[in-house]
Amino acid sequence: MKKKVVSLMLVAAMAATLFAGCGNKTEETQTPDAAPSTEAQTADADATADAAADAVGGDLADKKVGVCIYQFSDNFMTLFRGELENYLVSQGFSKDNITIVDGANDQATQTGQIDNFIAEGVDVLIINPVNSSSAETITDKVVEAGIPLVYINREPSADEEARWEENGWNVTYVGCDARQSGTMQGEMIVDLGLETVDLNGDGKIQYIMVEGDPENVDAQYRTEFSVKALTDAGLDVDCLTDQVGNWQQDQAQQIVANALGQYGNDIEVVFCNNDAMALGALQAIESAGRTVGTDIYLVGVDALSEALENVLSGKMTGTVFNDHFSQSHSAADAAIKFLNGETNEYYIGCDYVKVTADNAQEILDMVK
Ligand code: BGC
Repeated sequence: MKKKVVSLMLVAAMAATLFAGCGNKTEETQTPDAAPSTEAQTADADATADAAADAVGGDLADKKVGVCIYQFSDNFMTLFRGELENYLVSQGFSKDNITIVDGANDQATQTGQIDNFIAEGVDVLIINPVNSSSAETITDKVVEAGIPLVYINREPSADEEARWEENGWNVTYVGCDARQSGTMQGEMIVDLGLETVDLNGDGKIQYIMVEGDPENVDAQYRTEFSVKALTDAGLDVDCLTDQVGNWQQDQAQQIVANALGQYGNDIEVVFCNNDAMALGALQAIESAGRTVGTDIYLVGVDALSEALENVLSGKMTGTVFNDHFSQSHSAADAAIKFLNGETNEYYIGCDYVKVTADNAQEILDMVK
């Protein structure tokens, strides 16, 4: 297990330097601010599906789809794969021809699953890679087999995406820009105002960061851009510790429990790269007798139902809706276009939505 522990002394010494998760990097933020309405997304999806179904003359029922998920136990990817399967079926695929496999967070296992799908002769592959850095090898074998490929959730490198375009391959990536979600997390803290968040009155925001898998660009960007939103707003920040919770609730609970033991009331904000880890953080916060919204602030990403309930009851400051409907529908639509002999853009994006107590009910109604 990779683990990053940053000591208080080190942070003090390096506060102003570049430091993974605890530094002030200065990249351009891309923060599209308008999220498409659900009605609009559904209407778009229906229109695309109708057009695709007409064009292939109902052939989708005979097409075999192989879906590789990096790990079934991941809460967010569970929502994603459920919606992906439902949507594929609603577009005319037969449930029997959709095979979804669990990579068990092991690239060798997933590579074997991809080899099996190729041997079986699936018509299209949708892949959530265990390691984004394995994309080049995966792409090569899938393209060689003449199978169109839609990557989801874990974005391959810019060089890898450029290769698809240069070669005109039937490969695309569907996902959201995690810089946007990180920025939204930071903005929710900024919106509370320094007076509210700076509980110890030292003019700085003391925070801890709980990161997802650092191999994953979503974790890297959320870590960087959540803090950047604070510094962009002119706030001084002080990173007490930045550790890897691998997207998992139990690991985050342990990290935050330890941090609360070490830094106590100095912790003003807990940033978690996803909601599963925010739920773990909340358990640790409550066990330590601290109260979110009163003497500590907590933000996550994904908008899991449980996190939304917590935002509504004030146990979490906010979260960011990671739209699994839009992403799974776009992935399926891209697959349909490939099957239909059409091309896709090489990057298909989607917008995150900031969630506070003001709109949490609306999002909860949508995801439940
Ligand atoms: C989600 C995480 C999830 C990860 C898996 C991220 O976009 O926010 O909850 O664990 O994807 O790759």
